Amino acid sequence: KKTNNQMLVIFGASGDLTARKLIPALFNLYVAKQLPKNFVVLGASRSDLTDEEFRDKVVNKSRYLKAKLDDLKENFIKGFTDMFFYEDLGGDYTSEYSGLSKRISKLNIAHGTDNNYMFYLSTPPNLYETIAKNLSEVGLSSQQEGWKRLIVEKPFGYSLESAKKLNSGLQQYFKEPQIYRIDHYLGKETVQNLLVTRFSNSIFEPLWNRNYIHHVEITNAESGGVEKRGGYYDKSGALRDMFQNHLLQIVSLVVMEPPIGDQPEEIRNEKVKALKSLRIMRDEKTLFDNTIRAQYVASEINGEKVKGYREEDGVDPDSTTETYAAVKFFVDNWRWHGVPFYVRTAKRMPTKVTEIVIHFQPPHHQIFRDSGASSKDNKLIIRIQPDEGVLIKFGVKVPGQGFKVERANLDFYYSSLAETYVMEAYERLLLDAMQGDATLYARADEVEAAWEFVDPILDYWKNGKDVRMYGYAAGVWGPENGDELIDDLGTWRNPGEN
Ligand code: BG6
Repeated sequence: KKTNNQMLVIFGASGDLTARKLIPALFNLYVAKQLPKNFVVLGASRSDLTDEEFRDKVVNKSRYLKAKLDDLKENFIKGFTDMFFYEDLGGDYTSEYSGLSKRISKLNIAHGTDNNYMFYLSTPPNLYETIAKNLSEVGLSSQQEGWKRLIVEKPFGYSLESAKKLNSGLQQYFKEPQIYRIDHYLGKETVQNLLVTRFSNSIFEPLWNRNYIHHVEITNAESGGVEKRGGYYDKSGALRDMFQNHLLQIVSLVVMEPPIGDQPEEIRNEKVKALKSLRIMRDEKTLFDNTIRAQYVASEINGEKVKGYREEDGVDPDSTTETYAAVKFFVDNWRWHGVPFYVRTAKRMPTKVTEIVIHFQPPHHQIFRDSGASSKDNKLIIRIQPDEGVLIKFGVKVPGQGFKVERANLDFYYSSLAETYVMEAYERLLLDAMQGDATLYARADEVEAAWEFVDPILDYWKNGKDVRMYGYAAGVWGPENGDELIDDLGTWRNPGEN
């Protein structure tokens, strides 16, 4: 695909996300010669910096970049740094942008960026609408000459209502096809591979339905706690921070019907349909039976003392924000009727791992019943991270007399494709947006459909009569009650254990 000459304007350019994700991603794209011939990055924020100071702060002194540099890459730093410029917005993001607009025009002429501008909003979300409005007021959302795109970071709202407000707020100034909502999980190679696994093999898709799949399990575990983000996290919680976006995106790719083709809207239409088919839980009993929330409490991990969630910096000592969320739900459509989905996400678990487990139905007629086979189903495990790959568990005969059955693994690791360079999520996503490909970006209706499912759970957790908050020691696989959710089907697959 072609990447047109363009300018990337980063709002919130002196912030953490820019340093941690965007700059390293741009650098890798630069080294890989993926950036267009004429390309400049204009940082815009509230700090009073010159171009030189900005380059020094963001590029030269970036510890995130430094960590990745080897001698070869060191040679690219100068050329890379020269692409960066800075504009002080003066005061804050809310004052008008005529200064910014003039600077953009000047750089555009000097560097031949063909009036193609990508605006990346790496600011607190409450500024998104204002920034979009200010851009549009100085004519910077108009596509009369060149294209204009807007990339926004999550959270996209805090609830269904606020998400709708944000979407319609942005759409007043930029048209929906100009808006790119980033969900970095969609940038992960293995998440995209879900589509390929399903739709370019003939061995899985015929089984991908209620006749052959018994249940689906998705685990997203992090070993870290809330780190320095206690203030943000305490207002968010696991369901908003991970489930509403990243995990429901994964769910939509597991659940969706085959799209007609690989065009962005063809794929996104199917994802929306999938999200709309999740059965919304409305009554308290259903919500009580099918959702579990918990917080980690102080413990020791590998001999080191670890704080409990309520003791973390920035967290209210009486906080009722969950760091663990597990949800069981059904999908109301022809393909999935009656198949339970179990999805959990948490901080401070034993390890960092994300995987999808498709549990197939046991054989209808078990002839090797007494040999250990019946208790073990066939599983397809898609490891999203780490050890990206795909694992199939199936039964084999143990050599020797009789028919003793054991479980064997067919295991594929991405790392075995030695020559393949796996792009980091932000690299892939940035490049896609630069090329105008929105396949891996969330559309407004997707985001709203996901909130529609999540809202009643949040509401129940906030106001429900019988709602509970469980505790789990930092470093274990969540509270015991989380296991009860899946009890009738055995246990969660704790990666590395079973
Ligand atoms: C972010 C969440 O979106 O995703 C973080 O805000 C979380 O709380 C992170 O740690 C996890 O991303 P990854 O790519 O490390 O799994």
